[in-house]
Amino acid sequence: MSEIDPAAVEADEFSKLAPLQAAVLSKLNEAADLAALETCRVEVLGKASELAGLLKDVGRLPPAERPIRAALRNALKETISSALETRRGGLEEAALTVRLSAERMDISAPVRPEPAGLIHPISRTMEEIAAIFGAMGFSVKEGPDVEDDWFAFGALNIPGHHPARAMMDTFYLNAKIGERRALLRPHTSSVQIRTMLEWAKAEATGATPEPIRIIVPGRTFRSDHDATHSPMFHQVEGLVIGRDITLAHLKGCLIDFLRAFFNVPDLPVRFRASYFPFTEPSLEVDIGRDRKSGEIGAGSDWLEILGSGMVHPNVLANCGIDPREYQGFAFGVGIDRITILKHGMADMRPLFENDVRWLRHYGFSPLAPANLHEGI
Ligand code: DAH
Repeated sequence: MSEIDPAAVEADEFSKLAPLQAAVLSKLNEAADLAALETCRVEVLGKASELAGLLKDVGRLPPAERPIRAALRNALKETISSALETRRGGLEEAALTVRLSAERMDISAPVRPEPAGLIHPISRTMEEIAAIFGAMGFSVKEGPDVEDDWFAFGALNIPGHHPARAMMDTFYLNAKIGERRALLRPHTSSVQIRTMLEWAKAEATGATPEPIRIIVPGRTFRSDHDATHSPMFHQVEGLVIGRDITLAHLKGCLIDFLRAFFNVPDLPVRFRASYFPFTEPSLEVDIGRDRKSGEIGAGSDWLEILGSGMVHPNVLANCGIDPREYQGFAFGVGIDRITILKHGMADMRPLFENDVRWLRHYGFSPLAPANLHEGI
């Protein structure tokens, strides 16, 4: 190995690299944006760059000079890389500044009119019902849309071949829940059963559960379809069970509800004897409504509005509640029907068509409070 002068080698290498460094750094500074900088990076650090060539050549250098020259070439690579990052940071910041000033909002500009969302009349009715019964101490309960036929019929005192089953043109599913047939619930009355079973289970542990006082709004299904019937519709069920609940409670509760809901303080309400398998006695409830004008609370006509009654002892017993100790009342209301009546709508079908023009007309502002009798 021949002797070398390290200082001279270093000076020689330095004199070669210095112009390259100066050229590269000025190129980087000239890159006007991030895309230009990227092109520049490929040019100065990429495989075809002068620097890459110099680094590749390190292997062919005389061994004695190699460490000195290689160190300087690697140092140059470091310098260029870090200058590149610095420049990139600067350009990114500049790009952000440009974007921020372009996207600046004028918060004093007037509000752009937005198509505001509205509350669907059915949701509104449910809210009103919950508000009215909530004020009477009821709570809201829900149950599944898919039931089995014991919850929907059997437990409600509607045995297998009872004509009431046929009246309900039910959607049966090709499925079973356990051994029982599955179906889309034809009424919300099935939730009475679920509630009473839970209550009886709690009582069986020795606890004294609160008396039952619930409403059950929800979807219901029957296979019929015309101007006043939809295969999917809505009901609200009510159930009150306690030791001394009487028909007087049923009447008072429903009269108060109907007067508050229709916003007619002296609304005439009539109770008519009727028949439901799950109540005894059973009552249909009518309200005063002028047939010609449609005005609720006026004229001398009656309109049937809901079904109700004292819960049948068989139903209580089916749920494990002793009918000698407990009794109560139940009712079922068609939500869609009372909605169209209250708002003077001619037809039930638009409720489910989701035509925005109709919704814009009949929908409710989310912030407008429910306008009910006595401000509930
Ligand atoms: N389930 C009945 C129906 O869908 C409505 C009904 C009537 C419910 C009387 C009740 C009731 O709870 O007591 O037609």
